[in-house]
Order: sequence, then C-alpha cells, then structure tokens
Amino acid sequence: MITIGIIGFGRMGRCYLKAIQADERYRVTYICDPDERCRKLAHEMAPEARIVAEESAVLEDTDVQVVVLCALCDTRLNQIERALAAGKHVITEKPLADNIEREWQCVELAEEAERRGLFCTVNMYLQNSWYHHLMRDMAESGEIGQLAIMRICHMTPGLAPGEGHEAEGPSFHDCGMHYVGLAGFFTHSDFKTWHAQALRMWSWKDPWWLQAHGTMQNDVVFDITQGFVYGQLSKDQTHNSYVELIGTQGFCRMTHDFKTAVVELHGVTRTERIERPHGGKNIDVLLNEMAESILTGKRHKDMPKFRCSAKASDYAWRFLNDAWEHDIPAIGTLDELERIRERRRTMTDGYGLLPRNNKNV
Ligand SMILES: NC(=O)c1ccc[n+]([C@@H]2O[C@H](COP(=O)([O-])OP(=O)(O)OC[C@H]3O[C@@H](n4cnc5c(N)ncnc54)[C@H](O)[C@@H]3O)[C@@H](O)[C@H]2O)c1
Repeated sequence: MITIGIIGFGRMGRCYLKAIQADERYRVTYICDPDERCRKLAHEMAPEARIVAEESAVLEDTDVQVVVLCALCDTRLNQIERALAAGKHVITEKPLADNIEREWQCVELAEEAERRGLFCTVNMYLQNSWYHHLMRDMAESGEIGQLAIMRICHMTPGLAPGEGHEAEGPSFHDCGMHYVGLAGFFTHSDFKTWHAQALRMWSWKDPWWLQAHGTMQNDVVFDITQGFVYGQLSKDQTHNSYVELIGTQGFCRMTHDFKTAVVELHGVTRTERIERPHGGKNIDVLLNEMAESILTGKRHKDMPKFRCSAKASDYAWRFLNDAWEHDIPAIGTLDELERIRERRRTMTDGYGLLPRNNKNV
C-alpha cells in the first residue's frame, strides 16, 4: 500500500481523506493541522492515522511516500522543498505558492525531482474532469471543424471577500486560475493578447468579478468570466457555469449543476447529449493518476503538472493586473457585503462555505 500524509485538514484536506479512504491502494498514516478543532475531527474521521499539529512529523517520517499539501499557499514552497528533499511524491493544492516567483521555484524543484523518479502533481481539477476531456476529444475529432472561439464562464454565490483564502488572491486568481488553465488545456497553446475588465462588487478593495478576452498563440479567441458575485443574497441561490467550444462548422458545450454535467455536441456528422455525474473536485481521479505513476514508475499522461498550474496562476495575475490599468468601477456597499458574510456565517448548505459551517464536505 502507498502511505500518504495530509498536511492541512480544512475543507480540501477532508475531501482528500474521504477519497484516500475509498482507494484501497492507499493508507493514510498522518494528518497534520495546527488547529485543535481540525485535529479532533481528524481523530474521528481517521482513527487509523497519526494526528499531529506540526508538519515536520510528516515531512521527516521516512515511511510516508506521498504528501498531500492542503494548507494555504503561503506555506507551500517550504513544504514542497522539504518533501522532495526527503524523497516523497507530492500532491498539492493550487496555487503552488503565494507569489509567482515562488511558484516557478516550485516548478523547478518538481522538474528536478522528476528526474530523480519522484512525481509531483497539483489539483487543477477541471483538467481531470470527464466533461472537459470529452469536449477536447470532440473538438480534436474534426466534428466542429477548426476550433475558433472558446467561451468559459463560472459565476457562483461563493467565497465572499475577507472570509479566508487571502493568500490565494482575489476570486479571479483563487478560483479563476482554473478557468485560465482550461484555455491552454483546450488549445495546447499560450495566451497571445488580452484585455480584462473587472468590477469591485460591494466596493470591496479588490475586484470580485472579472472578464478577460483575447487571443491564443494559435489565433483561437477566448473569453473567460469568473466571479463569486452571482446572487449572494438571493432567496434561492443558483449559479451559471458553462464552457463552449465553437468551431468553423459546429460546436460543443457543457453546463452543470455540480451534481450532473451535460455535454452537447452539434457536430457535422453527430448530434449528441451526454449526461453523467459531475465528479466534484475529481480527487479520486488525481489519486488514481498518482497511484498508477508510482506503481508503474511512469508518469500518468493526464496527471496535471506544476508547470501548467504556475502558468495558469501567472496569467490570472496578468489579467488582474491588466484590469487595474483600466476603469474598475465600484458598485454596491460594504454594508451589503457584511449582510452576505452574516448570511454565510449561518448557512449550512451553499456555495464555497468555509469548513466551520461544512463539516461534511
Ligand atoms: N483545487 C480546487 O478546486 C480547490 C478548491 C478549494 C480550495 N483549494 C485550495 O486548497 C487549499 C486549502 O483550501 P481550504 O478551502 O481547504 O482551506 P481551509 O482554510 O478550509 O483549510 C486550510 C487548513 O490548513 C491548516 N493549516 C494552516 N497552516 C498549516 C500548516 N503549516 N500545516 C498544516 N496545516 C495548516 C489550517 O488550520 C486549516 O485547517 C487552498 O490553497 C485553496 O486555494 C483548491
């Protein structure tokens, strides 16, 4: 069995634990969190593991083969450095670190470690989703002609400003980097030109909604919209999330309700509608890619690389910086934001809730 230790037992740490416990190739040997309430929960959820407050116990134990890093990104570079120096494989949450220079340092460390036979991956979970793989295959099959336009949108009533995750940046970086990464995933190309428009919703200091559009190196055009601004105070909350790949002859598109995802193809020879369970954060897929890599000694072809995460993070920051070069209106009031936070403090079912309200994630 592959021994694995989890560092950071908040929302994501708990998601990993459940997926690890469901995969018989793994055995969780450590859970680490400085927060006493998190450790108490870890004892309940994983009686088989050692529960510690300090990460050194995990990073220095030679019996741990894989570490999962899901504290916040301001602690990550050091953890990655120590884990790789101790000969461990690394699964980490995104972003890799709290500024772009440190993220590229993580990439260098990972690429050097890969040459020594260690594997590193990062939870760019949209690139492990069945629906995006299917759409890319559809586009590459010729059914839509030549890919020309990518439209990507993700708006939810999610994490509100000032609630946590400060190290990860405004919502377009914290969450939006996933969607920036998708543009490269679909086109195998880098960004060439861009223009970004943002809005400081509720007059918060940072933009909480941003739309970027532009061109890729291969001339495909994109627009990416992300914001945690979608009906935060509406009586019944919902979201709007879709991807469209429009070609010269046909298109495919996807939407989901976080439970079910639907992909539709309007191709030149086929019209299809495929509906399957959404898959959530696809942590089972990531764990499978890591297990297969370790057990075969050969990196799984789909396992997301640090480089792809650093690139997505880098461009998400560039789009945010570009938005600051233009007019960024401030609409709404901090009082409205306080009402949103107050509502979210007592919510038990909703979008992107913090683990204190969401023990069962
Ligand atoms: N891939 C995704 O889709 C996705 C989704 C949500 C969050 N994330 C990322 O996952 C990470 C964790 O997010 P979360 O929502 O679980 O946050 P969280 O605040 O719920 O949990 C973080 C936990 O880390 C603990 N911690 C802090 N410093 C630590 C240290 N040195 N050692 C061990 N534990 C430490 C905290 O006490 C806390 O319990 C963030 O980087 C976030 O951006 C990724």
